[in-house]
Amino acid sequence: MIGKKIIQLENVDSTNNYVANLIQSNNIEHGTVILADEQTAGKGQRGNTWYSKPGENIVTSIYLRPEKLSVIHQFYLTIYVSISILKTLKKFDLSPSIKWPNDILIGSKKITGVLVETHLNKSNIEHVIIGIGINVNQMDLNTINGTSIRMETNEFNPIYTVLLSLINELNLNWKHITNENFTFLKKEYLNNLWLYQQETIFTDNQSEFTGKIIDIDEIGRLIIQKGNQIQKYNLKEIKFNLRNEI
Ligand code: BTN
Repeated sequence: MIGKKIIQLENVDSTNNYVANLIQSNNIEHGTVILADEQTAGKGQRGNTWYSKPGENIVTSIYLRPEKLSVIHQFYLTIYVSISILKTLKKFDLSPSIKWPNDILIGSKKITGVLVETHLNKSNIEHVIIGIGINVNQMDLNTINGTSIRMETNEFNPIYTVLLSLINELNLNWKHITNENFTFLKKEYLNNLWLYQQETIFTDNQSEFTGKIIDIDEIGRLIIQKGNQIQKYNLKEIKFNLRNEI
């Protein structure tokens, strides 16, 4: 069960690193959750740092060991996490959407960042460290790019209340990974995908262009239709070119 063991830390470099160290010393079980008040070297996507005001937000990493999940289905873990966060935020009266691949937005402002670090064993996923930062009570985020539950709703929520709700969703949705119910996961993901099927300005390595997201493929590449061409993109190959790009 996810969350049977929760380790709470005042201060750590990165909760993802903390899990990695426990794995090294063979001292961690599936479902263990690490929660920190403060990270001194929080890691973001693409080598960025993740800063979160101490004690105001969720800063957590969860260790999962799928019993049998092929490497080719790796992206479904990202989908699973995104959907679990999405459902959690809906419980707090928000209308979130998923920005491909795994940011969660309210309107066009980022409320959650996810960093999934997988470890492979031949063709299967041996374990995964899921790092999640959810802005809960912080009020002084850069208001163009970021937001928090409190900034959106004016409500203060204890970190633990939001964390337990997240753990509950992670447990409820885990069956879709163990049952390999990928069709369901993908449908939910597309239904909540930001700018899905909408004309949008993107930039790829060649130029700026208008197109629309029509799908994702089995390895999580974004499928965009431009005119009568269909193109697939990896993370580093495409940018959403909006005024308030995050
Ligand atoms: C992003 O860039 O959007 C991803 C941010 C992920 C941040 C979380 S906070 C808890 C966990 N520990 C880390 O060092 N990073 C992740």
